[in-house]
Amino acid sequence: MSRVFNPQNSSRLLSEERKEWLPPKKILEACGLKEGDQFFDVGCGNGFFSLPAAEMVGSEGEVHGFDISSDMLEELSERRAESDHTNIYLHQVEAEGLPENRMPGLNGRADVLFFANILHEVEDPGEFFGSYLRLLEEESGRVVILDWRYDEMEPGPDLEERLKSGEIKAILKENDLEIIFSKILNKRFYMFVGVSA
Ligand SMILES: C[S@@+](CC[C@H](N)C(=O)[O-])C[C@H]1O[C@@H](n2cnc3c(N)ncnc32)[C@H](O)[C@@H]1O
Repeated sequence: MSRVFNPQNSSRLLSEERKEWLPPKKILEACGLKEGDQFFDVGCGNGFFSLPAAEMVGSEGEVHGFDISSDMLEELSERRAESDHTNIYLHQVEAEGLPENRMPGLNGRADVLFFANILHEVEDPGEFFGSYLRLLEEESGRVVILDWRYDEMEPGPDLEERLKSGEIKAILKENDLEIIFSKILNKRFYMFVGVSA
């Protein structure tokens, strides 16, 4: 049974320690994010990646954050208000994924479709992931999955909630995505980048 992040722990996501494990700009650079891009942050939380991404894509680009939690979106909305960024748009979504008939107020498709520390929280990661793929810019878009490594460790989710690297690779392959980058970032996290095959 997967467990959704408790918004009462939201400050943990913005800790200095976390910035050392997951330096957001370095990670976003490794994903190929650049000025003018559309960055779609699925399970955006309080914006650990959304805010640095907004700076990197600049005024010509856009960041769209998707989350089920109104508390997390509210916190991100407050952080957006405190920042200079006017290019961040927030969308509250259903747990199962993006419904087929819904393309919420989007001007374009994702150059980078980003799933950081979320797939271990959803009931059916493959189906959930697949539902968002129609938001990807087909020709040149990149899909990123960053998550806890499958290893017994504190902190982080229980082992049975974590995805094995093989499961992540299978999800990408089942969706006709070719892996162009896969890396063990450190003891805790790995990251996979895919493009349309
Ligand atoms: C551990 S936090 C990670 C937040 C952010 N991606 C980061 O790395 O800092 C996971 C986030 O995913 C959201 N979430 C969990 N299940 C979701 C779902 N089915 N659809 C959208 N968001 C979801 C939670 O509300 C939470 O904000």
